[in-house]
Amino acid sequence: MQVALVTGGSRGIGRAVSVKLAAEGYYVLVNYVSNDAAAQETLARIQSAGGDGELLKFDVADYAATEKALAEWQTAHPDEYIAVLVNNAGIRKDNLLLWMEPDDWYKVLRTNLDSFYNVSKQLLQPMVVHRAGRIINIASLSGLKGLPGQTNYSAAKGGLIAATKALAQEVAARKVTVNAVAPGFIATDMVEGLDAEELAKTIPAKRFGKPEEVAELVAFLASDRAAYINGEVISINGGIF
Ligand code: NAI
Repeated sequence: MQVALVTGGSRGIGRAVSVKLAAEGYYVLVNYVSNDAAAQETLARIQSAGGDGELLKFDVADYAATEKALAEWQTAHPDEYIAVLVNNAGIRKDNLLLWMEPDDWYKVLRTNLDSFYNVSKQLLQPMVVHRAGRIINIASLSGLKGLPGQTNYSAAKGGLIAATKALAQEVAARKVTVNAVAPGFIATDMVEGLDAEELAKTIPAKRFGKPEEVAELVAFLASDRAAYINGEVISINGGIF
């Protein structure tokens, strides 16, 4: 059994990635933090596509909670290990830095960047020991170019990109790859409240991306076919940079 963990798998990009990886034959652990019904819906879609998996509820921003949940899973499945990790969970709390409250800074950093450490730290050793592993980090266009109103989110995603490049060099010799995907505008709950019609005009492809399109890229990076891609950031943005 090949096991994949998708953080923030209850909705949006994480849900599409979970369903895609399950269709590719992975047993998918769907992490989420609060919305039980949405997580159940992801699991139902996995199963109706002929795949299988389970829900794993924990807050990726909380080191102790993450460590506990993953240690418990490992103890319950001593013969398995998580070969593919998709660090997808993320939030945004946009504001100009002038008005940004400490909570909005720290919460975004904790959820989008500390989570990379919290989760990857638990899973790296088994990947290295098995000499097979994939870590795929969902970054953002904001992390590449910086976007006004998102200094917190841009800092977190930029940090995630740098961490991707550093970790890739630490583990490449052990056949573990660490890559990032940098989406532009993807139609999910996260972009609700944005003026989609106006924004779409600024995108060369003239539309938002679909979560399923991001999932295709993630699935490729997870596969053996991507074994020599390491420390890379791949944009998926309809041509907007
Ligand atoms: P979404 O808001 O639809 O889903 C986010 C997911 O993360 C949810 O399943 C939520 O439960 C989970 N989550 C949030 N905080 C969590 C925590 N502390 N612990 C565990 N799970 C948690 O967002 P979307 O659009 O699917 O975003 C997924 C990733 O893609 C995020 O990292 C986001 O920053 C990134 N992204 C999204 C873009 C977009 O246009 N939608 C563009 C660029 C990047």
